[in-house]
Amino acid sequence: MNPSLIPIPSKILQIPDFYPPESINIGHCPKLSLILPTYNEAGNIKDIVEVLSELLDDYIPGNYELIVVDDNSPDYTWKLALELTANYPQLRVMRRTEEKGLSTAVIRGWQVAQGEILGVIDADLQHPPEILAKLLQEMERGADLAVASRHIEGGGVSEWSIIRRFLSRGAQMLGLLILPEVISRLSDPMSGYFMVRRRAIAQKTLSPVGYKILIEVAARGRIRWIAEVGYVFRERQDGESKVTWKQYVEYIQHLLRLRLSISARFIQFCLVGLSGVVVDMGFLYLLSDETTLGLPLTRSKIIAAELAIINNFLWNDYWTFRDISCRQPGKRQRLKRLIKFNLICLAGLVLNVLFLNLFFNVFNLNRYLANFLAIALVTLWNFWFNLKLSWRVTEVDQ
Ligand code: GDD
Ligand code: MN
Repeated sequence: MNPSLIPIPSKILQIPDFYPPESINIGHCPKLSLILPTYNEAGNIKDIVEVLSELLDDYIPGNYELIVVDDNSPDYTWKLALELTANYPQLRVMRRTEEKGLSTAVIRGWQVAQGEILGVIDADLQHPPEILAKLLQEMERGADLAVASRHIEGGGVSEWSIIRRFLSRGAQMLGLLILPEVISRLSDPMSGYFMVRRRAIAQKTLSPVGYKILIEVAARGRIRWIAEVGYVFRERQDGESKVTWKQYVEYIQHLLRLRLSISARFIQFCLVGLSGVVVDMGFLYLLSDETTLGLPLTRSKIIAAELAIINNFLWNDYWTFRDISCRQPGKRQRLKRLIKFNLICLAGLVLNVLFLNLFFNVFNLNRYLANFLAIALVTLWNFWFNLKLSWRVTEVDQ
């Protein structure tokens, strides 16, 4: 095997906090690592490497690396790229023979990248390289993610057919429906031209399907500040696009997978809530029923509700928020979480009664529908405030 090829990282798709500098020829960690995913780009690879190098040599000389990740292209793109490394010391090449696909190619590249800023650009010259400087400036201003967008000022597509425009916008609308909290933050969620700060995605397990790596990064990363830079998507001069109907199917699959994994915690929280209802009912019976203890109803209810809250807390602490609570160990910390959880749930109970009255008395809804809506709203309240306050998700930088 040619010694200049980068070894392919091990299976799990996770980017390390930093990559120990080794094979790169510039002697220190570069600021920017830019991935060029390629499949049959023999006609473009030389030009794109040349243009990018010229530009970056001007802008951040000696402070970047280019990483070509090729999926064993039949047209030997990887071999051509490897030959270029003689003239471009900042260029490295990975040749994958087993794994395939655009998104994983980008992640494999980032896994061996040494920069603090991780970027990606198509290798077919459809993404204008001049935008790189603007993207970098946004990152330097503090953005966690800087995206080249066709859908803001300065952006566009050159000669796309009505059908392709329609499909692209349709895909965006579908994304808005399935994953609104992620897709609505991006004017061009389909973009494959962007930069992200390493620390925003380090240690997160990524699992994209298909083409749209940006969605994966925006959904799973710790992304607070998103910057966008307009660009015009150019026509291909050489080679051809690899997009087929398969990419549309994979895109939908990807959206659904993200939806499930983002909602997993909330679904767990709801299941724990249901277990609380069982505990509450059970103790209400044990305490207040004539055939058992026969205590007064209000007193029984207060004890039953409190026991349900403790039940829910334990399940949530050991299950729903396990990843967070294990980073805040100790009995004192747990007790603090329990007290906060208790207070938030009690406030939730008050809200529940208020909402029930509002829906029933003011909006004249059916009382069970009104109660159902009140419970749904209070579940959201409980989830959100407990996430932010009891388990302090922001403090541990989830
Ligand atoms: N390693 C690897 N493996 N690279 C791939 C693969 C793959 O399976 N498939 C495509 N690529 C590379 C191509 O060689 C090219 O450099 C880049 O990924 C984009 O692929 P194209 O096939 O040229 O994509 P496109 O121009 O139709 O689509 C692009 O659509 C967006 C706008 O809607 C996207 O890929 C985006 O990057 C772009 O912004
Ligand atoms: Mn292309």
